[in-house]
Formats: sequence, structure tokens, C-alpha cells
Amino acid sequence: MSNVNEEVGRILGSYSQNINNEIESTLSSISPNDLQEASIYLTKAGGKMLRPALTVLVSEAVGGNIESSIKVAVAIELIHTFSLIHDDIMDKDDMRRGKPSVHKVWGEPVAILAGDTLFSKAYESIINSKDEIDSPNPEECLERVNKTLSVVADACVKICEGQAQDMGFEGNFDVKEEEYLDMIFKKTGALIAAATKSGAIMGGGDEEITSAMYEYGRLIGLAFQIQDDYLDLVSDENSIGKPVGSDIAEGKMTIIVVNALSKANDEDKNKLLKILKIGNESGNCSKEHIDEALSIFEKYGSIQYAYNVALKKIQDAKKLLEILPDSESKYALSLIADFVLERQS
Ligand code: IPE
Ligand code: IPE
Ligand code: MG
Ligand code: MG
Ligand code: MG
Repeated sequence: MSNVNEEVGRILGSYSQNINNEIESTLSSISPNDLQEASIYLTKAGGKMLRPALTVLVSEAVGGNIESSIKVAVAIELIHTFSLIHDDIMDKDDMRRGKPSVHKVWGEPVAILAGDTLFSKAYESIINSKDEIDSPNPEECLERVNKTLSVVADACVKICEGQAQDMGFEGNFDVKEEEYLDMIFKKTGALIAAATKSGAIMGGGDEEITSAMYEYGRLIGLAFQIQDDYLDLVSDENSIGKPVGSDIAEGKMTIIVVNALSKANDEDKNKLLKILKIGNESGNCSKEHIDEALSIFEKYGSIQYAYNVALKKIQDAKKLLEILPDSESKYALSLIADFVLERQS
């Protein structure tokens, strides 16, 4: 494992106890039991906790203490978890975080409700953060909470828009790179940007720092989804805890596919389209199909292309961190930017 992965693993781990305790107490009052269990299940399945750690780290980097941002960090993780539960229904994926997906265990109706419950609990958590902020001025506290509510609400709308675009792209082999980038910004980048921006707001950062942190989150969020698309092709289920080849099985458009389709000769293009169509129609994808698709991607340099696009986003994101005063948290944010492309799970 690379040093970056190890170091970031330690950083994320150092916040996870606090965040998990807070999540547990936030979800303990849900009833009936079935709904409570379905809502808690994935939160205990060992997610990376990247987004809540980003919120706390940015808040610390702008001078806030952990209490000021932890409830918002929890809210971001709950929204992420809600989006995963619904995403697995939409993507027909049976595994998540190394366990059967929520809808596999409790059925789709309860999984939909568990997602909705987490979504609502997230807003409750942001509202409750008002009393934890390290500021003597009650009006200032209320303003930070209001700003955070609007940042998070905007991200939630974008997640739904991005997920709708993602589904609309299935079986549409005409998607342009800009359309793909807009889709992944909405489905994935927007929540990561909300995580970093709300950390800046809750920690008391000024306007300039707050917008820089949004942009940092947006850029690492784009790279994060490009790496996710890559891992879906080349990883194994044990490492990523979710099915491999799921994107091909659903006929999804990723930057790798979009790039290969734009460069391939007619023969290779038709081969690739056939694989994607078979996947899209049957909802299945064999190892042979993934390997055949991979050899086309390699032939046209599409994997390297996707990596270079993501790398540029990471480099730009790291430049934005220069606005922050030096601190351990700033250093961690820079490491996390590298981690987004180094990560293998
Ligand atoms: C998975 O996110 C969903 C995407 C946006 C690609 P993560 O890879 O952060 O999932 P967990 O939280 O670690 O399970
Ligand atoms: C993730 O996209 C988007 C959201 C969860 C909102 P994916 O569908 O690629 O995520 P994974 O690969 O299932 O985690
Ligand atoms: Mg999806
Ligand atoms: Mg999915
Ligand atoms: Mg994916």
C-alpha cells in the first residue's frame, strides 16, 4: 500500500470514532425496529468516512474546533449513505461496503424509507449543530447554520439531477465528455464540495476561503468519480466491497467509455457498443466482456486519458489550498487530494 493511502487511512480513522458515536446517537430513536436497523446497517459497514472527515478538517483548517462542525459532518455522511442506498436500487447492485445492499436484506420499500429517514435525520443534525458552535454570538451561529442548510440542500438537488442524468445516459452512446463531467459533478462532486464548503462555514472561514474550499471539493469530487469508474473496471469485489463491472453491466457512460468511443475505429467501436448493449439489456457482465472492453480502452489510451484528466483536477485542487494558513489539517487536505487517485477502494 502506498504511503498516501496509509497516512490518509490513519487520518480518516482518527475521526471515525467521534463521527460514528454521533451517528449512532442521531439514529437511535428511529422506529419501528426494521426501519431503524435498515437505516443504521450501512453506517456500521465500514465506509471510508471521507466526506465527514473533509468537513471537520476544513473547519479546523479555518480555525474552528471539532464540536462546531461534527454534527454537519455527520449530516453529510448520512446524506451520502442515503444516496448509496437509493443508488444501489437504481443500479441493481447487490453488494455495498462488502455486505448485501440494504434493499437485498430488507426489500426495496424499506430501503427507500431508510434512505428517506437518513436524509431527514441529516437536516435535523444540521439544525442541532447551532448549539455546538464555538462563537459567542447567537446570530452568527444561526447564520452559519442557515448558510450550511442552503449549501447542503443545493447539493441534494444536484445529486438527484446527476443521478437522473446518469440513468438517462444508459444506452445513449452519444454522450460528450462535458456532459459526463457535468453529470459526475452533480451526482458526486456536489456533495464533496458541500462537505468542504460547510466545513469552512461552520469553522468561521471568510467568503474567499469558503468559495475556495467549495472549488477544492468540487475538483477532488470530479477526480473521485473518475477513479470510482476506473476501479469499477479493474478492481475486485473484495477490495471495493461492491460489484465489479457494474457500470458495463448497466451500459453506463464513463469518461473511459466516452473517450474510447470518440477515438475507436469502426470495428472496435462496434465491439464496444455491443458489449455495452448486451450489458444494458441483460443487466449482466462477464469477465470476458470486461477484458474485451479493457483491451479496447488500452488500445486507445483511454484509461491513461481519464487518469490525466483526473490528475489535472487534483493539481488544481491542491493549489486552492494555498489560501489556508499552514496547519496539520491543511496538510491532511493536501494528502487527501492525492489519496483520491491513489486509493484502491
Ligand atoms: C461511493 O463513495 C459512491 C461514489 C460517489 C462513487 P465512497 O467510495 O466514498 O463510498 P464509502 O463511503 O467509502 O463506502
Ligand atoms: C455514485 O455513482 C453516485 C451516488 C451514490 C450519488 P456510482 O453508482 O458509480 O457509485 P457506486 O460505484 O455504486 O458506489
Ligand atoms: Mg449509480
Ligand atoms: Mg452505483
Ligand atoms: Mg461506481
